[in-house]
Amino acid sequence: MDIVVTGTGYVGLVAGVCFADVGHNVTCIDVNEARISLMQKGISPIYEKDLQELMQKNAEKGRIRYTTDYANTYKNAEVIFIGVGTPENPDGSANLEYVEIVSKQIAENIENDCLVVVKSTVPVGTNERVEKIIKDNLKNNVKVEVASNPEFLAQGNAVHDMLHAKRVIIGIESKSAEKKLNEIYKPFNLPIVSMNRRSAEMVKYACNSFLALKISYMNEIANLCKIVGADIEEVAKGMSYDDRIGAKFLNAGIGYGGSCFPKDTKALNYLAEQNGYELKTVKATIEVNEEQRKRLIKKAKKCFKSFEGKKIAVLGLAFKPETDDLREAPSIDNIKYLVNQGANVYTYDPIASNNFKEKYDDEKIMYAKNPTEALKDADACFIFTEWNEIKDIKPEQYKELMSNPSVFDGRNIYDINEMKENGIDYHSIGR
Ligand code: UGA
Repeated sequence: MDIVVTGTGYVGLVAGVCFADVGHNVTCIDVNEARISLMQKGISPIYEKDLQELMQKNAEKGRIRYTTDYANTYKNAEVIFIGVGTPENPDGSANLEYVEIVSKQIAENIENDCLVVVKSTVPVGTNERVEKIIKDNLKNNVKVEVASNPEFLAQGNAVHDMLHAKRVIIGIESKSAEKKLNEIYKPFNLPIVSMNRRSAEMVKYACNSFLALKISYMNEIANLCKIVGADIEEVAKGMSYDDRIGAKFLNAGIGYGGSCFPKDTKALNYLAEQNGYELKTVKATIEVNEEQRKRLIKKAKKCFKSFEGKKIAVLGLAFKPETDDLREAPSIDNIKYLVNQGANVYTYDPIASNNFKEKYDDEKIMYAKNPTEALKDADACFIFTEWNEIKDIKPEQYKELMSNPSVFDGRNIYDINEMKENGIDYHSIGR
């Protein structure tokens, strides 16, 4: 089938490439010309495992193309997926500006009957809003249907998550929309779950908020473990054998980040407030996460009277491993705090350093080429991302390299006893 995908970020580009890979003819649209010309050369604008290879493979097979020319592309489109960003507004609500612009552009240009599918994460009721915008702005007498199809891709594993999804959620209001989406997803051979559009929109927020809640819950239990002499790693292991709880998302740490959990928990909380309902669990999830991010720095403040003139190593900038994404990364506020307190911060990240430098340039932030350079003569070290390159650092290296081996580990990478045996003043979460 011919498919148009608008927006070439993590959602749109991954979806477009995977649709092409299962045999559809895909046109990806973006307003960013530099991005489009990069993709036309077979280069992925984002770092995502397997993505660039699949882009090149499907371009060679002539199944995917990239363009900024939305007007001509929409003209004869049969199916258009909207995969543009829905960032956070200052009040916590989702910013639907881009979704609305695209809806209007679709309305003004389509000349044939068309199914518009909203893939972006959008608050309950947005599909109806998109339908209204399109119907209000149609220039031609055509039939348009709008369906919801939220994505469940985790960055770093997005291609795999799309090709081998646990399920495909489709929110539809008609048999014809359902039939078309079933046809699109048939080659993926995955379970397809149909429901109404509002439910489909809610599934996405409910999933992300539940996972965020699971993390915040573990972080609170971790903090209590520390107080009462239990070890969160042992507790999590003990919990993981209960398959009603499951083994995933039990890792306590410096708090969740990324473009999804922080934004989606706030948007769900906002939606509840707007509807006069207090969503206590999600509110608590957000609060716990905000506190958790400051936990290690508070601990460090107790150990060091001042950070003034100190060399502080920071290992890991990205919000999680296998991505260069810094959105809502715990490293950001912590580094800003250290710099404000007069520290010289030597960071190391295998991929995200350039992104960090572009966004938060400061003469007090240095970018080391390897962990050794960051750790050399440092007075303290913070670990914010559990990259393999960081996990590979041996405890004795901290002792050898740092002038004062004080390690604040936000990802519980190391065995406490081993760190102690190596003479390291080691602080982690919940142990
Ligand atoms: C998340 C969801 O996992 C996806 O299913 C969803 O589709 C996506 O959001 C989205 O809405 O687009 P992502 O944000 O890429 O994916 O990353 P995760 O792997 O879920 O991690 C999110 C944050 O939670 C990271 O900061 C990670 O370090 C933290 N985390 C994760 C923990 O602190 N503990 C854990 O046990 C797991």
